[in-house]
Amino acid sequence: MRTLIAGNWKMNGGRAILAELDRIAAAAAAAPAVDVAIAPPFTLLAEAAARAGGVVIGGQDCHSAPKGAHTGCISAGMLVEMGARFVICGHSERRAEFGESDALVRSKAHAALGAGLTAIVCIGEDEAERDEGRALMVVAAELEGSVPPNANAANLVISYEPAWAIGTGRTPTLAEIGEMHLIIRAKLLQLIGEEGARVRILYGGSVNGTNIAAILTCPEVNGALIGGASLTADQFLPIVQAAANVSQ
Ligand code: PGA
Repeated sequence: MRTLIAGNWKMNGGRAILAELDRIAAAAAAAPAVDVAIAPPFTLLAEAAARAGGVVIGGQDCHSAPKGAHTGCISAGMLVEMGARFVICGHSERRAEFGESDALVRSKAHAALGAGLTAIVCIGEDEAERDEGRALMVVAAELEGSVPPNANAANLVISYEPAWAIGTGRTPTLAEIGEMHLIIRAKLLQLIGEEGARVRILYGGSVNGTNIAAILTCPEVNGALIGGASLTADQFLPIVQAAANVSQ
């Protein structure tokens, strides 16, 4: 499985941030062993896709319907038309801020796959669930509820992102990450059969150029989803480089 290093710019960046993408694209071309992806804000998608080179560009969210009276929303097909090749579904900020349920995340991912996109489906416990010893159960249930029926190894990526580790500078221990990823792998095999063995499982939450190499040594960690540290080439490229070194 090829390692995937994906950046999520969230609601950050005007057009000036595309200069960072230019630098990321140039450096990614020199690290061909790793897949590099960026999800810019929707407003930058078309231009980002046009100048991304080998960097795969994707959306941060989509609607579950192909079209209709949904003011302010964007369909998976619209993302495709802008040059997106993947979409993040069910990021914890969408789940927390907009009340997205597993069922809604699954329907969005289903629409994304139907439009030809890869869905990066995010799952992860919050701090109380971790403290109460329920993290493994919660994440397994989220996975089961969020993976669409038409998923396979080519169109699905899972990202395990404990909400308490996002943007906080805190991460689970390597043992905790490995334990969770093993559970996710086992559950994927149950849900989609043999295809589940080849679905990439990312870790996300306070990943940086210093901790990525160790995180990638955890069992069943096939890459990372990065927020804050993906906003500048200076912070993102050391992550890509470390991943390339590990993959060699
Ligand atoms: P972070 O965000 O890297 O800023 O912690 C991760 C994410 O939300 O995917």
